Amino acid sequence: PVLVVDFGAQYAQLIARRVREASVYSEIVPHDISAAEVAAKNPVGIVLSGGPSSVYEDGAPAFDSEIFELGVPVMGICYGFQVMARALGGEVAQTGAREYGSTDMAIGGDGGSLLAEQPSAQTVWMSHGDSVVKAPEGFEVLASTASTPVAAFANPARGLYGVQWHPEVKHTQFGQDLIENFLHDAAGIPADWNPGNVIADQVAAIRAQVGTGRVICALSGGVDSAVAGALVHEAVGDQLVCVFVDHGLLREGERRQVEEDYVKSTGVRLVTIDARERFLSALAGVSDPEQKRKIIGREFIRTFEQAQADLVAEAAADGDPIRFLVQGTLYPDVVESGGGSGTANIKSHHNVGGLPEDLQFELVEPLRALFKDEVRAIGRELGLPEEIVGRQPFPGPGLGIRIVGEVTFERLELLRQADAIVRAELTAAGLDTEIWQCPVVLLADVRSVGVQGDGRTYGHPIVLRPVSSEDAMTADWTRLPYDVLARISNRITNEVAGVNRVVLDVTSKPPGTIEWE
Ligand code: XMP
Repeated sequence: PVLVVDFGAQYAQLIARRVREASVYSEIVPHDISAAEVAAKNPVGIVLSGGPSSVYEDGAPAFDSEIFELGVPVMGICYGFQVMARALGGEVAQTGAREYGSTDMAIGGDGGSLLAEQPSAQTVWMSHGDSVVKAPEGFEVLASTASTPVAAFANPARGLYGVQWHPEVKHTQFGQDLIENFLHDAAGIPADWNPGNVIADQVAAIRAQVGTGRVICALSGGVDSAVAGALVHEAVGDQLVCVFVDHGLLREGERRQVEEDYVKSTGVRLVTIDARERFLSALAGVSDPEQKRKIIGREFIRTFEQAQADLVAEAAADGDPIRFLVQGTLYPDVVESGGGSGTANIKSHHNVGGLPEDLQFELVEPLRALFKDEVRAIGRELGLPEEIVGRQPFPGPGLGIRIVGEVTFERLELLRQADAIVRAELTAAGLDTEIWQCPVVLLADVRSVGVQGDGRTYGHPIVLRPVSSEDAMTADWTRLPYDVLARISNRITNEVAGVNRVVLDVTSKPPGTIEWE
């Protein structure tokens, strides 16, 4: 692998993703990893991430400088660049020249293999208070900015490189090129990480783990569980049974997508539990968002446990118990809950719907090493329908948290209609890949006066919440074209009885969350 050393903040994940986008497998490791531990992982390259500290501060994140002696190509980024400079005999200082945001950078000379064939003047994204004021002995300075004379350096003979700016962020003009130059040219790493290889590896790993055992998989209708289920089915066929709970809070067509399209494309054995009545009656009279979430989570667990108990009993009667449970855990969840690599515990991930904690199963998690876009690529490779693979994130509690106010059957139907119109129009306008997701929210407790036909109406508003995001941690509202907004608004007010107004949410996250509840 290429190891991405995490110096804090959220840069490491982004870097790891960019490395994968260059078709090279990457893993995140903590900054206090020892040179021996690094060597044991047999890395083909190392990238040092940025971080929030100063290299000369007490308590600055430690780094074992023996790692530079392993003969593995290393690229330092921002804080990682400074760590490298200091460890190898250069100088880092607080020069008073802070740079934040887009900055003009100039390449000196030919740029070496890192900046080869790039325009000599370009815009890069900076975020630093300290600067490298002197490159270490044997290093060539590759680039500078107005206030940072040493903005990039290289020692090709030792395979050591560094840049002050952040090539991993999209605001840096030739960032991905730089990362690919480091990986493919400077470090000579082939571009051979692709969905086909991942599937072959995972199928082998699942077979080794599961043997002839039986496996259960809860499908949520979302991408992750669908791809995890398909992978496990690819590996062990009918030893797998999938369970899908219809809680009545789904969007239009979702149950059909799972019951028909998914089953047809994968051949999995599926059990659907119709729990619509159960959820609706549990939610009756409840408007508080947290209470709704708790109720939905609780009912989901109870429904799933019951289904599972039935299946387990059935399997046990055959003398062949179900021993494994599939979970669609992704790499960011693993990294964020501190699992696998010892990275700081940022938050404990809890899964869609919240599965019971005292499960008697061994987990099968075939997506643990993957990012979302990779999961999608694998789903496509496995032949899953685009409606499932390209699906935007949808919260476990479903439409239940997109009705501000009490959840009723009529309101769900109304919201389903409005949501279907929005999705259809965004797809027709070719905007699906531009937006991260677009929650459609019904303000059930708000009414406003309108005029439709000859008469006064007193209807509910529908809120559109289109957002752009890389990871849902932060988001910006998407500037949708006015004509698309106009069409959506027209269609909703004409076609959805009870709605006489469509409004647009123009709040970023923070301060707003993506969902309204
Ligand atoms: P917020 O509203 O917190 O949402 O900005 C961030 C992302 O998470 C999704 N979301 C959920 N996903 N279970 C889930 O599986 C949940 O309870 C849940 N709540 C929010 C939301 O759609 C967005 O993508």
